[in-house]
Amino acid sequence: MKRITLGQSDLNVSEIALGCMRMNGLEISQAAKVIETANESGINFYDHADIYGQGESERKFAAALKETSIKREDILLQSKVGIRYTYYDFSKEHILSSVDGILKRLDTDYLDVLLLHRPDTLVEPEEVAEAFDALHSSGKVKYFGVSNHSPYQVELLKKYVKQDLVTNQLQLSVMHTGMFDASFHLNRKGHHAIDHDRGILEYSRLHDMTIQPWSPVHGEKGVFLNNEEYPEINEKLKELGEKYEVNHEALSIAWILRHPAKMQVILGTMNPERIKNYSQASGIELSREDWYAIYRAAGNPLP
Ligand SMILES: NC(=O)c1ccc[n+]([C@@H]2O[C@H](COP(=O)([O-])OP(=O)(O)OC[C@H]3O[C@@H](n4cnc5c(N)ncnc54)[C@H](OP(=O)(O)O)[C@@H]3O)[C@@H](O)[C@H]2O)c1
Repeated sequence: MKRITLGQSDLNVSEIALGCMRMNGLEISQAAKVIETANESGINFYDHADIYGQGESERKFAAALKETSIKREDILLQSKVGIRYTYYDFSKEHILSSVDGILKRLDTDYLDVLLLHRPDTLVEPEEVAEAFDALHSSGKVKYFGVSNHSPYQVELLKKYVKQDLVTNQLQLSVMHTGMFDASFHLNRKGHHAIDHDRGILEYSRLHDMTIQPWSPVHGEKGVFLNNEEYPEINEKLKELGEKYEVNHEALSIAWILRHPAKMQVILGTMNPERIKNYSQASGIELSREDWYAIYRAAGNPLP
């Protein structure tokens, strides 16, 4: 499994990570098998959030990790704060108390990375800065980042926060390509030219913030792989999968990793066989022509 550097941190992370949003539904023994398989596949990075399974995903992970021979210091743990079910809350008090809850549930003294989960328009960035300072100086959090944030939202935080923001976790898959689409259609009429993503791809590259794509096998109608509502993309992935000698499911992940922005994909599967299969995506180097062929087969016109 290829490793990349997360933003400007000193974290050497696998370019495929495991998201634990769905771990709450597993038995501890099943969760242990998932973690062991991820580890054997070269994955060293696990994504959490305080709200996943209302905290149960983090609890399950900690209990399951103890069933394996993997040590806490050999893996990297990321979690997120700021969503409170019916509203968003980036207050200092909430950030600090959420992190304490996360550390307790994950049964660890520190997080490698903490993200602000989804923008809070009532954010007072001075308070975020105070919270981050306290978490950093106490050793509870090593690095910080954001999720689902626009360039200006990041800039606003950066005006006050001292620590580097090393990542922005954003939705991206073969069938959810918002961050690429409008860039092809500058100055043209029609809905393809509408920029919903405000240049977040280029901004992230310019500022060395690693993009972490979430829901990497989802389209608007659920999982697109082997879904009869998405015939064209499945056909194209199968055709090119033969060329690259990998199955079409793994190729959909290789497509994301091919982007020179050097992203870190967050897988959501809790199926050990699928974890092994998707891990094969690391190291596959799609040609430029094939990358664009997949993009077009996903229904995206190029001018
Ligand atoms: N920052 C955010 O706002 C945000 C939002 C959502 C998620 N996330 C993070 O991103 C991670 C991934 O998100 P996600 O779970 O939506 O990602 P995903 O990998 O697109 O979806 C995983 C789901 O799809 C199913 N699946 C995967 N491959 C399949 C296949 N080949 N055929 C049929 N079903 C398949 C999985 O079932 P099996 O388990 O049975 O394989 C699982 O239910 C989460 O765990 C979380 O850490 C972040």
